Amino acid sequence: MSDTLIMPQLTTEEVVSLTRKLNYGTWRAQKTWKPMHVVDAEDCYFITADGKRYLDFSSQLMCVNLGHKNPRVIESIAEQARELPYIAPGYATTSRARLSQKLLEVLPEGLEKFFFATSGTEANEAAFKIARMYTGKTKIISRYRSYHGSTSGSIAATGDPRRWAMEPSGKGPGFVFAPETNCYKCPIKHTYPSCGVACADYIEHMIRNESDVAAVIVEPVVGTNGVLVPPKEYMPRLRQICDEYDVLLIADEVMTGWGRTGKWFCVDHWGVKPDILVTAKGITSAYVPLGLTATTTKIADYFEEHYFSHGHTYEAHPMTLGPAVATIEEMQRLDLVNRAAGLEPYVRTKLEALKEKHISIGDVRGLGLFWAVELVKNRETKEPFNTMRDKVEGKPLVVDQVAAKMMGMGVAQQAWVSHFVIAPPLIVTKAELDKGIDALDESLAIADALVY
Ligand SMILES: Cc1ncc(COP(=O)(O)O)c(C=O)c1O
Repeated sequence: MSDTLIMPQLTTEEVVSLTRKLNYGTWRAQKTWKPMHVVDAEDCYFITADGKRYLDFSSQLMCVNLGHKNPRVIESIAEQARELPYIAPGYATTSRARLSQKLLEVLPEGLEKFFFATSGTEANEAAFKIARMYTGKTKIISRYRSYHGSTSGSIAATGDPRRWAMEPSGKGPGFVFAPETNCYKCPIKHTYPSCGVACADYIEHMIRNESDVAAVIVEPVVGTNGVLVPPKEYMPRLRQICDEYDVLLIADEVMTGWGRTGKWFCVDHWGVKPDILVTAKGITSAYVPLGLTATTTKIADYFEEHYFSHGHTYEAHPMTLGPAVATIEEMQRLDLVNRAAGLEPYVRTKLEALKEKHISIGDVRGLGLFWAVELVKNRETKEPFNTMRDKVEGKPLVVDQVAAKMMGMGVAQQAWVSHFVIAPPLIVTKAELDKGIDALDESLAIADALVY
């Protein structure tokens, strides 16, 4: 090989400076972006160029459910590359057939026809188009505390402030917002259980008054926007309302799927069967980019005679499908769904003890290995330290100060406006849970000092 083909080694300073100069840091102003140079990762840790190991307490973006560098999944990527790295989606492939069979084993019953994209965003876009084509109706009801993706339709369905930059005219039309279920701080000022889940009834009220509603989309447990666990009546009631008004129910399980909440899929907690289930992230433990839109046979039958007007060059990309089969097999072999459920009481007890100790914690909530710790500056009023507006304007957030302290202690923790999302890989040990929660415990002094 000629010497001129060998790229010179880059120093960490060069890597960071090239990245900053030539790439966009997402969801932020660029000036303060100082990305760390990550060179390796294994199990529940990632490693930076200076040799420091960080406990990955949120599985990156709540997606590396199997932990880093699972050997079987890595091998499946190599196998797929050797066998068939690409073929157009119009052809049948062994990996697509295998994955589809495997999905029938783990998805909620009744979801039997699949469209494969390369992200949660795209999978939601497909869900909206399918719902609109199938029902002949237009509107989609979403909720304010939600995130469904970054492109035209999915950002329009997103209730959180990431939508604001696209308003009023930069987003897809036809999305309307309902209040979320948040029993800690109810947006319609009710109290559970005397409310009778009025937040679900509110959606019925919207459907009646909007007309032309094709679907309701919900994250069964809201993810980034607070790990909001609904009361047990909520999802069954929503299913009932959707059936009554001939509206499709879309479950966005991009974050809650794949064992995260202690079931294969979050809707399994309540036995609710959505018409469309959307997922991504943990489907491959994020090693390769795959999104899934799963529909019922009833929806599938409609397209036997009607034009399925959707697709991508990378739809059902073989490189994404083989590794998904390996991911599911590894999850089964390691019994990770039961592991997440089994560790839930341990995390609950530890976080409730943390709340007792720290005046700045307003609430802890979660399921399986998916938890939020919400900070408030006053427990009585439940007023947060920061607002969504602070986040968008790039103001320093209290949660970011706490997370930075944790990072200094070797624990990487995702934070959003006024809460932390604790979601370690499902292979996490009790000792690693202790390490992460201990780091939070120590770092919360920063927030406690600001309480009044
Ligand atoms: C619930 C939910 N839906 C959709 C998305 C978008 O997925 P992606 O980032 O893969 O496009 C996300 C991403 O965090 C999500 O949490």
